[in-house]
Amino acid sequence: MTAYFDSVRGRLKLLQKNWLVTGVAGFIGSNLLEALLKLDQRVVGIDNFSTGKQQNLDDVRSQVTEGQWRNFRFVEGDVCDFTQCLAVTRGIDYCLHQAALGSVPRSIEDPLKTNQNNITGSLNVFIAARDNKVKRTVYAASSSTYGDHPGLPKVEDQIGRPLSPYAVTKYVNELYADVIARTYATELIGLRYFNVFGRRQDPDGAYAAVIPKWISDMIRNNPVFINGDGSTTRDFCYIDNVVQANLLSALTDNKDAVNQVYNVAVGERTSLNDLYEMMRLALTADFSHLKNAQPGYRDFRLGDVLHSLADISKAKRLLGYSPTHTISRGLNEAMGWYVQNLS
Ligand SMILES: NC(=O)c1ccc[n+]([C@@H]2O[C@H](COP(=O)([O-])OP(=O)(O)OC[C@H]3O[C@@H](n4cnc5c(N)ncnc54)[C@H](O)[C@@H]3O)[C@@H](O)[C@H]2O)c1
Repeated sequence: MTAYFDSVRGRLKLLQKNWLVTGVAGFIGSNLLEALLKLDQRVVGIDNFSTGKQQNLDDVRSQVTEGQWRNFRFVEGDVCDFTQCLAVTRGIDYCLHQAALGSVPRSIEDPLKTNQNNITGSLNVFIAARDNKVKRTVYAASSSTYGDHPGLPKVEDQIGRPLSPYAVTKYVNELYADVIARTYATELIGLRYFNVFGRRQDPDGAYAAVIPKWISDMIRNNPVFINGDGSTTRDFCYIDNVVQANLLSALTDNKDAVNQVYNVAVGERTSLNDLYEMMRLALTADFSHLKNAQPGYRDFRLGDVLHSLADISKAKRLLGYSPTHTISRGLNEAMGWYVQNLS
């Protein structure tokens, strides 16, 4: 266990708080659930299973004790329904809002659905949390908000024009959070995640993220395609860093840290060509067909940004954020989970 986890455990030991995790059956939501239950917290989770899975909840159950699992109440429901949002925020101390339709290409194909789930859904959660006097809401923002701003590394207050409907929705969440915090004296913190990866991230489907998709394609001996020439870079962030940022944001006593937006990443840039090679080398020992494997190349994807690298100094300074996992450490852990679950 890491030092921050021990310190959070120390702070929560005497206090069993009530948490709401929206999007709890998804990748990030189920990892937040697991961390909170392991800290003996009481958790309500809501999900409509649009992209989330019962299997993720079953997997969390296998990682905690029966007593810890009894601290969890699941509601199958939709954050687009304000009445349901009011019901699940009742009696909640901290809300970790993750429910949204992810993926840039999905938003280009169906902007109405993305708008409905990400903007209406988030506004419902923010207002229901206000009505039920939730102490603080931490919500999933996105690095896509940097859009076409050319600066690197990305600094929170310098953004460009959004490049996709998805990016618009994530930016609108930030605008609403800011106005709601100032208008109603509520507490909200936005976390701009940068390409998160790790256990329970869905490798299948048209909108799968690059790391789980490539791992599963490599293991299954399917062709792996790079969109563009492979020089595109990303600041890949392992899930444990994201869990840390959420817990720190919910629990910080630093008044200057509240009603802010933070980059959540590692501060390291990896090209897609380098990522392919790291993954191929890590898997070759178990999967000999990868010894001389090469990626295929195809067109760059509409709406994607070319380069992404975060300045994480604001989260370090105000939240005490300190990422525990670099991309290589995270990949080693994620590989283990995927090899076990996909082979
Ligand atoms: N994974 C990343 O790299 C990344 C990067 C930036 C931001 N984010 C944001 O983080 C959050 C979680 O992403 P994830 O990667 O875990 O995705 P995910 O698809 O695995 O999880 C999202 C969950 O929300 C649920 N959901 C969607 N719409 C809902 C609705 N209307 N009502 C109730 N539940 C609903 C889905 O069923 C799913 O379980 C999202 O807000 C996403 O935009 C993720």
